[in-house]
Amino acid sequence: MIHQAADMIQAAEHVAVLTGAGVSAESGIPTFRDALTGLWARYDPAQLATPEAFSRDPALVTRWYDERRLRCAACDPNPAHHALVTLQQSRRLTLITQNVDRLHTRAGSLDVIEIHGNLFTWRCTRTGTEVEPPIEPFQTHPPLSEAGAPMRPGVVWFGEMLPARAMKAAHAALESCDLFMSVGTSALVHPAAGFVDLARHHGAATIEINADPTPITSDVDLAIQAPAGEVLPAVTELLGLA
Ligand code: OAD
Repeated sequence: MIHQAADMIQAAEHVAVLTGAGVSAESGIPTFRDALTGLWARYDPAQLATPEAFSRDPALVTRWYDERRLRCAACDPNPAHHALVTLQQSRRLTLITQNVDRLHTRAGSLDVIEIHGNLFTWRCTRTGTEVEPPIEPFQTHPPLSEAGAPMRPGVVWFGEMLPARAMKAAHAALESCDLFMSVGTSALVHPAAGFVDLARHHGAATIEINADPTPITSDVDLAIQAPAGEVLPAVTELLGLA
């Protein structure tokens, strides 16, 4: 399996990778849907990750995102993140992520396409101005902008449009890649869950690396059910890049 993945990557001109929370699990950041430890197993997304939740209780919502922001800042990229940096240094690789933890960028990946935004950019609800506040607990919840208005996290909430520029860049990569890899995502949340179909429609070969089976497992050319932090470094080693 690992050899097959290495061969497919070696043969590819342009690799497009979509990552999800599973890539950051080995950094100690909880995923969303893992049964016992996932965020959505302990919190109700509708109470925290929607515009309605924010307008209903901005203090609760921004306190939760502030805690997640500080927790992610205290975590480090893991071997899966580093292996993706190594792959991007050796070939044309576009990295699209659903993750908001910025660990790909901190590991050294370039031009990361953050289709769900990130926890470190906060936006004024009055002017739309975006800032990256220092990594320390906010004094107030919600934090206030320069304009004196509440700020919200720069993440995509359920029911919101995904950032147009990021989606345009993601689609360009999906239409031109000849290998698509889905790594560490449950493939349940659209439009990201449909990226594999878009890539295949444009002729790409497809690989899934995920701890558990997902709705796309039976559709991909190669499915490896194992931790990304083991598979990706093993692939870079086989390619003589480690
Ligand atoms: P999920 O929690 O839905 O799925 C994480 C996937 O990672 C699961 O399928 C696990 O089997 C797998 N996994 C866990 N540990 C792994 C490891 N070490 N190596 C490989 N795979 C592992 O997270 P996402 O798919 O990222 O959206 O969720 C997609 C979106 O739903 C998120 O971006 C977020 C969430 O609600 C918004 O908030 C808009």
